[in-house]
Amino acid sequence: DGKALYSANCAGCHQATGKGVPNAFPPLAAHLPKVVAAKNGRAYLINVVLYGLQGQIRAGGANYNGAMPGFAQLKDDEVAAVLNYTLTAWGNKLPAGQKPLSAAEVKKERAAKKTAAQVLKLRPKGLK
Ligand code: HEM
Repeated sequence: DGKALYSANCAGCHQATGKGVPNAFPPLAAHLPKVVAAKNGRAYLINVVLYGLQGQIRAGGANYNGAMPGFAQLKDDEVAAVLNYTLTAWGNKLPAGQKPLSAAEVKKERAAKKTAAQVLKLRPKGLK
């Protein structure tokens, strides 16, 4: 399930708490609901997990300029499950009116292969 996938693949960097590590790994707790609510946020999150992310970002009031590896080896339903976990764990909530991410949305994004640097260009603007 999403929690087990998170523990196995993500918690080493973003921590079991979702709080990340200052100056190294950005927080997902109290942050991802803003990302998913932004324009193209759903597709962006899927691309981060599939293809990784590289370059300067601002998240949770701090700057990061690191690199996250992609997890294209996860199946479509696993990518959806791990993201849906992060969007509902630690007090995170999906924005009103948004459905959980689906395997079909992951399949669609997987069809357009990207580099971690290209994923940065998909990131919604104005995140703090
Ligand atoms: C960024 C989720 C695994 C290191 C992000 C972001 C998300 C995310 C959604 C973008 C946040 C934003 O744009 O504000 C996940 C999930 C993972 C995972 C769901 C497991 C499937 C990892 C692992 C590492 C890592 C294992 C370390 C090896 C990073 C770093 C960034 C990041 C360094 C920021 C990259 C940059 O500065 O451009 N992660 N992550 N992540 N993640 Fe992960």
